[in-house]
Amino acid sequence: MATVGIQRTLFAALKLLTVLLALVLMIVVITTLTFPSYQTSPPECKTTDPDFIPADEERLARFSSAIQFQTVSYERGVGTPQELLKFVRFIQDGFPTIHSSPLVRREVVGNYSLLYRVEGSDGSLEPYMLASHLDVVPITQETDWEAPPFSGQVRDGYIYGRGTLDDKHNVMGSLEAVEFLLSRGHEPKRTLYLAFGHDEEIGGHFGAKVISDVLTQRGEKIAFILDEGTPVGDGLMPGVDKLVALVSVAEKGFLQLRLEVKEEGGHASMPRSESAIGILSRAISKLEDNPHPNLFGTGPEMRTLEYVATEMTLPYRILTANLWLFSPLVAWVYARKPQTNAFARTTTAVTRFNAGVKDNVISPEAVAVIDHRIHPMSSVEEVMEHDLKVINDPRVKINVINSLEPAPTSPYGKDSPTYMLLQETIQQIYPDALVTPTFMIANTDTRHYWNLSSAIYRFNPCVMTPSDLPRFHGLNERISVRDYERVMNFYYHLIVNMDKPLEVKRHVHDEDL
Ligand SMILES: *[C@@H]1O[C@H](CO)[C@@H](O)[C@H](O)[C@H]1NC(C)=O
Ligand SMILES: *[C@@H]1O[C@H](CO)[C@@H](O)[C@H](O)[C@H]1NC(C)=O
Ligand SMILES: [Zn+2]
Repeated sequence: MATVGIQRTLFAALKLLTVLLALVLMIVVITTLTFPSYQTSPPECKTTDPDFIPADEERLARFSSAIQFQTVSYERGVGTPQELLKFVRFIQDGFPTIHSSPLVRREVVGNYSLLYRVEGSDGSLEPYMLASHLDVVPITQETDWEAPPFSGQVRDGYIYGRGTLDDKHNVMGSLEAVEFLLSRGHEPKRTLYLAFGHDEEIGGHFGAKVISDVLTQRGEKIAFILDEGTPVGDGLMPGVDKLVALVSVAEKGFLQLRLEVKEEGGHASMPRSESAIGILSRAISKLEDNPHPNLFGTGPEMRTLEYVATEMTLPYRILTANLWLFSPLVAWVYARKPQTNAFARTTTAVTRFNAGVKDNVISPEAVAVIDHRIHPMSSVEEVMEHDLKVINDPRVKINVINSLEPAPTSPYGKDSPTYMLLQETIQQIYPDALVTPTFMIANTDTRHYWNLSSAIYRFNPCVMTPSDLPRFHGLNERISVRDYERVMNFYYHLIVNMDKPLEVKRHVHDEDL
């Protein structure tokens, strides 16, 4: 009799499970079919528009000249002052309308950085800021370049040289846009700043930092800031065939730690049971075995997927539209590859390990350096706590070398007028592109601008394929002529769009009816 009872219970449980599964399946299907689109389709910028900025010979020559200044930053405090001064002078000569306009105030900040204020006609509107930087990283493998790295050579539709992607295209592109605007007699309504730091590649401590101090002293509040950042990806996102413009709304922080163990040394013939090297090795193993928690689903990284969900191929769309269910699965997938793991958690990299001087001497000390990159939803303090708990050994002395909190996350989505303005401007220039938020795993000058604005975005208005990524700071950095043209027109459209009221635009399509 008892077995019949058990059978009945089992049967009932199975039935319930089937019903539940069917229910979950139904929700998954419905969510997939009804998932909202976050994309817009503003009027496209056409090459035939009367106010289109062509990449003509003159503008290309100017850009090419800009590349020829070897404004290299080597390390903190070590740059190329003479080249910077030449580049600054070149900018002054190259844009006569800007430099003679009564609307423009130009300042040299920190000796080499530039701050332009273009006065808007409506003083009640908060200004905004377009930021980029004048310096570049050093050249490696000079002889392997297809064109000399400081030539600015145009060949096969590309402009070659250090700084073409990082970041002179933004410097020159924004200047070209303002020059064009002013020479057409257009007076902006909203005041704008152009901010060009001169040492971004080495932390911006003497450029962007000083620009920030100057504006802070004046009590300036900035409606939004746009700086260099993530590109329009072509094939960078699995499951999406279209271009995806990645707008970074935050930046990871970092924490660099020096781990040190001091123990008695001595001759190798009479070792104690534990050595400095052994103790430190164990601490490092523990750190590698206990990674910081997977935070996928807590920050912008989840929205990166959701904002393009409706445009994904079916399997990806099902997963992405149902992160309420599949988030743990996606988190697991993210953790498997270094490129995606970096977006899921605070990472731990062991960058140095030094100990020992002689084959037969027990080293009295061992030193290691750990470089953490902190997820936007965590903090320096949390990372420190985790490490202390994991190492759990007072013999390992931990010192902070350097740290930066993750950047505050800027507003994004349909409720953020600045994000939507940026999205629509991007889609005017790249009508086929989707726009989605993400965060940067590297840092920009904006780390110095947090107090100026709560809406800070990092975006590179040109297309990059996976094979283009190594060009950043690497070999054969180049931009296509077409993309450089887009950069200029992107800034121009952004400036013109900023003169329209900055408000929440929820019902764009209703207006068309
Ligand atoms: C600017 O130049 C002056 C004189 O050469 C120098 O003393 C000063 O430290 C420089 N300031 C910065 C921020 O580099
Ligand atoms: C912002 O202001 C606070 C308070 O004055 C200051 O401690 C902090 O360093 C500033 N942050 C940045 C990034 O400038
Ligand atoms: Zn840069």
